[in-house]
Amino acid sequence: MDKQRKHLIRLGAGVAAGLGAAALAWAGTAANAATDAPESDFEAQIIGGQPAEEGQYPWLVGLGSPGEGTPWERQFCGGSVIAADVVLTAAHCVEDASAGDLVVFSGSVDLESDAVVETAVADLHVADSFNDPVAMANDWALLKLAEPVDVEPIALGTEAAAYDALETAGWGNTGSEYPVVAEWVEVPFVSDADCESAYPGEVDAASMLCAGDLANGGVDSCQGDSGGPIMTPAGGEQVLVGIVSWGYGCAEAGNPGVYAEIAGFAGAIDEVLAGWE
Ligand code: ARG
Repeated sequence: MDKQRKHLIRLGAGVAAGLGAAALAWAGTAANAATDAPESDFEAQIIGGQPAEEGQYPWLVGLGSPGEGTPWERQFCGGSVIAADVVLTAAHCVEDASAGDLVVFSGSVDLESDAVVETAVADLHVADSFNDPVAMANDWALLKLAEPVDVEPIALGTEAAAYDALETAGWGNTGSEYPVVAEWVEVPFVSDADCESAYPGEVDAASMLCAGDLANGGVDSCQGDSGGPIMTPAGGEQVLVGIVSWGYGCAEAGNPGVYAEIAGFAGAIDEVLAGWE
């Protein structure tokens, strides 16, 4: 599979997400930017991040399609291992999929590495409240793996807070390419009030968390990072506080990244997990 095909899959994921017109317009731009944009383009710098070290985020996984091609060629979203055989991802990544359409790549930040383990998905639960009360609200889904993976799971943040530090990671668009090695970046917390002003009527504060540099832009998750983690390192151990969900463009001043906020639906996650035991 060539790079162009990878972009088409990503566009498909964007369309499936039922994103707004502006987000779709960006999806089109992103596909072109990835092949055409010069390295010096503003967007050309996850955006504004750096390659993750092996083992930096053991729970970070890629979500892909089964079949031919390398994991990098098949990856279209991210996810986080929250129990040995459970991955938390975004609803918009998998809403039209069956378990058999999905595989999980774990074990390395490098999706072309021999260390990558490919695991089938046995069951899939998309949040019942996805897109309720607004588009992209409650953007979470759980994947039950066909067998456990040998990686450290991440703990869920169950209380919303104004986080001092947040970082996000994934194999999404850096502005110039879809990287083979996952990238990570620190993103400033954005309050619900500021996020509401940025996206009037589109923010469900109960299930969304916003982050980004409102004044300057330059740091953000982007297309292909969806489903992956936003974490707070506070207290020494990383805690999963959100899931990459949406934004208008990527890393633009005034348009923060929006994440599904775990604290808003941690109870619903527990219920699904209890049913799977
Ligand atoms: N919806 C995108 C995806 O499917 C993620 C967009 C995140 N955008 C942002 N500006 N943080 O990969």
